Amino acid sequence: MERELALEFVRVTEAAALASGRLIGHGDKNGADQLAVDAMRSVLDSVHIRGTVVIGEGEMDEAPMLYIGEKVGAGDGDEVDIAVDPLEGTNLVAKGMPGAVAVMAVAPKGHLLHAPDMYMEKIVAGPEGVGVIHLDAPIEHNLRELAKASHREVSELTVVLLDRERHEEQIRRIREAGARVKLISDGDVLPAIQACLSHSGVDMLLGSGGAPEGVIAAAAVKSLGGTMQGRLIPEDDAQQERLQQMSVMDTRHILDLDDLVQGDDAFCVATGITGGDFLKGVHYGKGYATTYSVVMRSKTGTVRFIKTQHRMVRMAAK
Ligand code: FBP
Repeated sequence: MERELALEFVRVTEAAALASGRLIGHGDKNGADQLAVDAMRSVLDSVHIRGTVVIGEGEMDEAPMLYIGEKVGAGDGDEVDIAVDPLEGTNLVAKGMPGAVAVMAVAPKGHLLHAPDMYMEKIVAGPEGVGVIHLDAPIEHNLRELAKASHREVSELTVVLLDRERHEEQIRRIREAGARVKLISDGDVLPAIQACLSHSGVDMLLGSGGAPEGVIAAAAVKSLGGTMQGRLIPEDDAQQERLQQMSVMDTRHILDLDDLVQGDDAFCVATGITGGDFLKGVHYGKGYATTYSVVMRSKTGTVRFIKTQHRMVRMAAK
């Protein structure tokens, strides 16, 4: 994929963030999501790609915008798979809490796992964790090895998990091992990105969250030289059947980074909606709005932070 596409994809997540940012704190997560989806969908069609949504807002028969299988883009240029999460952290926007982003991942056709909407067990760490941590290893071992590889003490590591009952045992063991725990109420894509960046205050992401979010995060992890493993967790017969259609017969099957995102030609782009410790949120000023985005390209490992000023009159015409 041409490197120039990076900026085009930023325009897409910026549009979603600018639109849904209007409903920060309004208690209307569906409304905010819809604004993000509509904006993302319309800007995507101005990008010179022949895209297919492989992770999106739902199945075709439910007919949402950005449904799985929907063709997007201007219809010329590279043939690509697109995974979108126009509003990652709907509750965060509804409550005006930090950490909501508009995010998408793009890779050549056939290179993104078509992850079904089910849970995925995840482990993510930065470059020091490559070949060192493993989804099936005891947590204590992973912490010890990551600490050793990054020349730190276990007590200096911070592990992020979604604050869910299903993670209670993991949380207890991490604390007992002496590491620090950061619990988040929603949104596990950004912490996965942060786990791959030094000085982010996050060293590892653990626990189960959405599988689609897992694939989007994997595109970023690849660009950042980090490590990630996942395992799909079917919860009923329908989900089990879905796995069989995907030829994942063994539910113990571990998906590594190359299963989640094949090759080395992926982009991951995110724009902050509500401000957090990684990306600032949308700011509406007098006649202008400002957005803060990050765009990562796995081919080169380039990570760009982009601050954009948008003239409001222009936005209306976008
Ligand atoms: P939404 O933006 O769709 O609300 O999802 C947010 C999220 O927190 C994801 O980041 C995470 O992977 C998943 O939901 C966790 O699911 P659950 O809330 O069921 O534990």
